[in-house]
Amino acid sequence: MQTFVIRPIDGDDLDAVVAIEAATYEQPWSAAVWADELSQDTRTYLVADVNGDVVGYAGIMVVGEDAHVTTVVSSGIVPRLGTRLMLELVREAIEAGAEHLTLEVRTSNTRAQELYRRFGLAPVGVRKHYYRGEDALIMWAHDITGREYQERITSIEEEVR
Ligand SMILES: CC(C)(COP(=O)(O)OP(=O)(O)OC[C@H]1O[C@@H](n2cnc3c(N)ncnc32)[C@H](O)[C@@H]1OP(=O)(O)O)[C@@H](O)C(=O)NCCC(=O)NCCS
Repeated sequence: MQTFVIRPIDGDDLDAVVAIEAATYEQPWSAAVWADELSQDTRTYLVADVNGDVVGYAGIMVVGEDAHVTTVVSSGIVPRLGTRLMLELVREAIEAGAEHLTLEVRTSNTRAQELYRRFGLAPVGVRKHYYRGEDALIMWAHDITGREYQERITSIEEEVR
Protein backbone atom coordinates (compact mmCIF):
# COMPACT_ATOMS: atom_id res chain seq x y z
CA MET A 1 0.00 0.00 0.00
CA GLN A 2 1.22 3.50 -0.84
CA THR A 3 1.38 6.16 1.82
CA PHE A 4 1.16 9.77 0.72
CA VAL A 5 1.61 12.71 3.04
CA ILE A 6 2.44 16.40 2.80
CA ARG A 7 4.56 17.26 5.85
CA PRO A 8 7.09 19.86 7.04
CA ILE A 9 10.53 19.47 5.47
CA ASP A 10 13.34 18.18 7.66
CA GLY A 11 17.10 18.13 7.24
CA ASP A 12 17.06 14.55 5.94
CA ASP A 13 14.97 15.67 2.93
CA LEU A 14 17.56 18.15 1.70
CA ASP A 15 19.52 15.85 -0.63
CA ALA A 16 16.34 14.75 -2.39
CA VAL A 17 15.02 18.31 -2.62
CA VAL A 18 18.31 19.63 -4.03
CA ALA A 19 18.33 16.81 -6.63
CA ILE A 20 14.74 17.53 -7.74
CA GLU A 21 15.52 21.25 -7.76
CA ALA A 22 18.52 20.71 -10.07
CA ALA A 23 16.41 18.60 -12.44
CA THR A 24 13.55 21.14 -12.45
CA TYR A 25 14.87 24.67 -12.63
CA GLU A 26 17.31 26.38 -14.99
CA GLN A 27 18.57 28.39 -12.02
CA PRO A 28 18.26 25.89 -9.16
CA TRP A 29 18.88 26.78 -5.52
CA SER A 30 22.06 25.17 -4.25
CA ALA A 31 22.25 23.12 -1.04
CA ALA A 32 23.66 26.23 0.67
CA VAL A 33 20.72 28.38 -0.42
CA TRP A 34 18.30 25.69 0.81
CA ALA A 35 20.07 25.50 4.17
CA ASP A 36 19.82 29.27 4.50
CA GLU A 37 16.11 29.24 3.59
CA LEU A 38 15.37 26.55 6.17
CA SER A 39 17.22 28.48 8.88
CA GLN A 40 14.86 31.47 8.60
CA ASP A 41 11.85 31.78 10.89
CA THR A 42 9.73 33.49 8.25
CA ARG A 43 9.90 30.45 5.94
CA THR A 44 7.73 27.35 5.90
CA TYR A 45 8.68 24.49 3.58
CA LEU A 46 6.64 21.36 3.01
CA VAL A 47 7.49 18.16 1.17
CA ALA A 48 5.20 15.66 -0.53
CA ASP A 49 6.28 12.21 0.57
CA VAL A 50 5.31 8.90 -1.06
CA ASN A 51 6.51 5.88 0.91
CA GLY A 52 9.35 7.96 2.35
CA ASP A 53 10.43 9.43 -1.02
CA VAL A 54 10.20 13.15 -1.68
CA VAL A 55 8.09 13.72 -4.82
CA GLY A 56 7.48 17.45 -4.52
CA TYR A 57 7.85 20.46 -2.29
CA ALA A 58 6.61 23.99 -1.76
CA GLY A 59 7.35 26.97 0.44
CA ILE A 60 6.23 30.36 1.66
CA MET A 61 7.83 33.35 3.31
CA VAL A 62 5.43 35.23 5.58
CA VAL A 63 6.19 38.86 6.39
CA GLY A 64 3.42 40.81 8.10
CA GLU A 65 0.16 40.22 6.23
CA ASP A 66 1.83 38.92 3.09
CA ALA A 67 2.67 35.31 2.31
CA HIS A 68 5.11 35.06 -0.56
CA VAL A 69 5.12 31.70 -2.35
CA THR A 70 8.81 30.98 -2.88
CA THR A 71 8.51 27.70 -4.80
CA VAL A 72 6.14 24.91 -5.83
CA VAL A 73 7.52 21.76 -7.46
CA SER A 74 5.49 18.69 -8.37
CA SER A 75 6.93 15.56 -9.91
CA GLY A 76 3.47 14.68 -11.20
CA ILE A 77 3.64 11.26 -9.51
CA VAL A 78 0.61 12.06 -7.35
CA PRO A 79 -2.46 13.35 -9.23
CA ARG A 80 -3.01 17.09 -8.80
CA LEU A 81 0.05 17.39 -6.59
CA GLY A 82 0.61 21.05 -7.42
CA THR A 83 -2.94 21.75 -6.27
CA ARG A 84 -2.50 19.72 -3.08
CA LEU A 85 0.74 21.56 -2.24
CA MET A 86 -0.92 24.94 -2.85
CA LEU A 87 -3.82 23.98 -0.56
CA GLU A 88 -1.35 23.23 2.23
CA LEU A 89 0.57 26.46 1.59
CA VAL A 90 -2.63 28.49 1.89
CA ARG A 91 -3.41 26.73 5.18
CA GLU A 92 0.12 27.45 6.48
CA ALA A 93 -0.06 31.08 5.30
CA ILE A 94 -3.30 31.69 7.21
CA GLU A 95 -1.93 29.94 10.29
CA ALA A 96 1.10 32.26 10.17
CA GLY A 97 -1.22 35.28 10.13
CA ALA A 98 -1.13 36.16 6.44
CA GLU A 99 -4.04 37.93 4.73
CA HIS A 100 -2.65 38.02 1.20
CA LEU A 101 -0.75 35.70 -1.11
CA THR A 102 1.80 36.78 -3.71
CA LEU A 103 4.41 35.26 -5.98
CA GLU A 104 6.54 35.73 -9.07
CA VAL A 105 6.37 33.28 -11.95
CA ARG A 106 8.15 33.14 -15.29
CA THR A 107 6.06 34.73 -18.03
CA SER A 108 6.54 31.53 -20.08
CA ASN A 109 5.36 29.19 -17.28
CA THR A 110 1.72 28.94 -18.28
CA ARG A 111 1.09 25.67 -16.41
CA ALA A 112 2.11 27.23 -13.11
CA GLN A 113 0.13 30.39 -13.92
CA GLU A 114 -2.98 28.26 -14.53
CA LEU A 115 -2.50 26.58 -11.15
CA TYR A 116 -2.08 29.94 -9.42
CA ARG A 117 -5.11 31.46 -11.16
CA ARG A 118 -7.26 28.68 -9.79
CA PHE A 119 -6.03 29.79 -6.36
CA GLY A 120 -7.30 33.28 -7.06
CA LEU A 121 -3.89 34.77 -7.84
CA ALA A 122 -4.28 37.47 -10.50
CA PRO A 123 -1.46 39.05 -12.50
CA VAL A 124 -0.81 42.63 -11.39
CA GLY A 125 2.45 43.48 -13.13
CA VAL A 126 5.76 42.38 -14.54
CA ARG A 127 9.22 42.41 -12.94
CA LYS A 128 11.62 42.95 -15.80
CA HIS A 129 14.62 40.58 -16.01
CA TYR A 130 13.70 38.96 -12.67
CA TYR A 131 15.06 35.69 -13.99
CA ARG A 132 18.13 35.27 -16.16
CA GLY A 133 16.81 36.13 -19.63
CA GLU A 134 13.14 36.31 -18.62
CA ASP A 135 10.61 38.58 -16.94
CA ALA A 136 8.45 37.58 -13.98
CA LEU A 137 4.72 37.99 -13.75
CA ILE A 138 3.73 39.25 -10.28
CA MET A 139 0.53 37.67 -8.98
CA TRP A 140 -1.58 38.46 -5.90
CA ALA A 141 -4.58 37.03 -4.10
CA HIS A 142 -6.09 39.30 -1.45
CA ASP A 143 -8.13 38.57 1.67
CA ILE A 144 -7.35 34.87 1.85
CA THR A 145 -9.10 34.63 5.22
CA GLY A 146 -12.28 36.14 3.77
CA ARG A 147 -15.43 34.14 3.01
CA GLU A 148 -15.12 34.36 -0.76
CA TYR A 149 -11.58 33.00 -0.75
CA GLN A 150 -12.45 30.28 1.75
CA GLU A 151 -15.27 29.14 -0.55
CA ARG A 152 -12.78 28.91 -3.39
CA ILE A 153 -10.46 26.79 -1.23
CA THR A 154 -13.30 24.52 -0.11
CA SER A 155 -14.30 23.87 -3.71
CA ILE A 156 -10.70 23.05 -4.70
CA GLU A 157 -10.43 20.71 -1.69
CA GLU A 158 -13.58 18.92 -2.84
CA GLU A 159 -12.13 18.51 -6.35
CA VAL A 160 -9.00 16.76 -5.12
CA ARG A 161 -10.58 14.74 -2.32
C1 LIG B 1 3.67 24.03 -12.03
C2 LIG B 1 3.56 22.68 -11.31
C3 LIG B 1 3.91 22.89 -9.84
C4 LIG B 1 2.11 22.18 -11.43
O1 LIG B 1 2.01 20.98 -10.71
P1 LIG B 1 0.97 19.82 -11.12
O2 LIG B 1 1.13 18.72 -10.16
O3 LIG B 1 1.09 19.57 -12.55
O4 LIG B 1 -0.39 20.62 -10.85
P2 LIG B 1 -1.85 20.01 -10.83
O5 LIG B 1 -1.85 18.62 -11.41
O6 LIG B 1 -2.43 20.19 -9.50
O7 LIG B 1 -2.60 21.00 -11.81
C5 LIG B 1 -2.41 20.95 -13.16
C6 LIG B 1 -3.35 19.86 -13.72
O8 LIG B 1 -4.65 20.05 -13.23
C7 LIG B 1 -5.57 20.19 -14.32
N1 LIG B 1 -6.62 21.10 -13.90
C8 LIG B 1 -6.54 22.44 -13.78
N2 LIG B 1 -7.72 22.92 -13.35
C9 LIG B 1 -8.54 21.87 -13.16
C10 LIG B 1 -9.87 21.73 -12.71
N3 LIG B 1 -10.59 22.78 -12.33
N4 LIG B 1 -10.40 20.49 -12.65
C11 LIG B 1 -9.69 19.43 -13.01
N5 LIG B 1 -8.42 19.51 -13.46
C12 LIG B 1 -7.84 20.72 -13.52
C13 LIG B 1 -4.70 20.72 -15.39
O9 LIG B 1 -5.25 20.54 -16.66
C14 LIG B 1 -3.50 19.85 -15.20
O10 LIG B 1 -3.80 18.53 -15.59
P3 LIG B 1 -2.96 17.65 -16.61
O11 LIG B 1 -1.93 16.97 -15.75
O12 LIG B 1 -3.98 16.71 -17.14
O13 LIG B 1 -2.38 18.56 -17.62
C15 LIG B 1 4.49 21.61 -11.95
O14 LIG B 1 4.25 21.56 -13.34
C16 LIG B 1 5.96 21.84 -11.70
O15 LIG B 1 6.51 21.38 -10.72
N6 LIG B 1 6.65 22.58 -12.61
C17 LIG B 1 8.07 22.82 -12.49
C18 LIG B 1 8.38 23.79 -11.38
C19 LIG B 1 7.65 25.09 -11.57
O16 LIG B 1 7.61 25.65 -12.64
N7 LIG B 1 7.06 25.59 -10.47
C20 LIG B 1 6.31 26.82 -10.47
C21 LIG B 1 7.17 28.00 -10.47
S1 LIG B 1 7.70 28.41 -8.84
